[in-house]
Amino acid sequence: MSQDTAVTGHERIETSNLLMIVLILLVVAVGGMVEIVPLFFQRSTTQPVEGLKPYDALQLVGRDIYIREGCYNCHSQMIRPLNAETLRYGHYSMAGEFVYDHPFQWGSKRTGPDLHRVGGKYSDEWHRLHLESPRDLVPESNMPAYPWLTPAAIDAASVPPRLTAMKRLGVPYTDADIAASADAVKGKTELDALIAYLQSLGTHVK
Ligand code: HEC
Repeated sequence: MSQDTAVTGHERIETSNLLMIVLILLVVAVGGMVEIVPLFFQRSTTQPVEGLKPYDALQLVGRDIYIREGCYNCHSQMIRPLNAETLRYGHYSMAGEFVYDHPFQWGSKRTGPDLHRVGGKYSDEWHRLHLESPRDLVPESNMPAYPWLTPAAIDAASVPPRLTAMKRLGVPYTDADIAASADAVKGKTELDALIAYLQSLGTHVK
């Protein structure tokens, strides 16, 4: 650029940090609103898919264990609408399948496979062995073992408040569901709960 060129508007932006930052924020904010705001008003993103049921008490406890153990650090629950994904995992994920998930577990890291449609793929016994010792079933696996889940009893008294919290967030639990939830997990272990959760994943779309 020759020296005698007048300072153009664009050059002024590119040479001023503050102006650049302010304008970038403005562009990102407007772009974000255009992309995100309509989603709050679309039925396909706000309404449950047909047949979607809230997690039962045991599955909900399992979901909390999934979060506590950080399974989302290696597993996504988000099948993209691409051939390579749908051939491997099944029907792509739809927003309406996650309306009872607070927070959803889409994840963004796949050290292991996507789990959104893992429900029904294996037996409970397979999951039990796999969680206790992954390499007994998949020798090349680098998934950690979770042996402490097997003997851990679920604290039944902690369960009704979990359903109540979900109800406040819009999950349609009835008072009867909440009242029955402590009994529903009696005698169950954390491993039972995690498996019940895994077996429920992605099973609402045939
Ligand atoms: C360090 C990364 C890592 C973490 C953390 C992890 N996994 Fe995995 N997982 C893997 C890998 C890799 C595989 C593929 C090999 C195998 O099946 O063991 C896998 C496989 C699986 C599978 C079989 C999926 C299929 O379709 O075959 C399930 C189910 C699973 N993991 C559940 C879990 C759960 C539940 C947790 C948390 C308690 C968890 N994983 C934590 C890495 C991980």
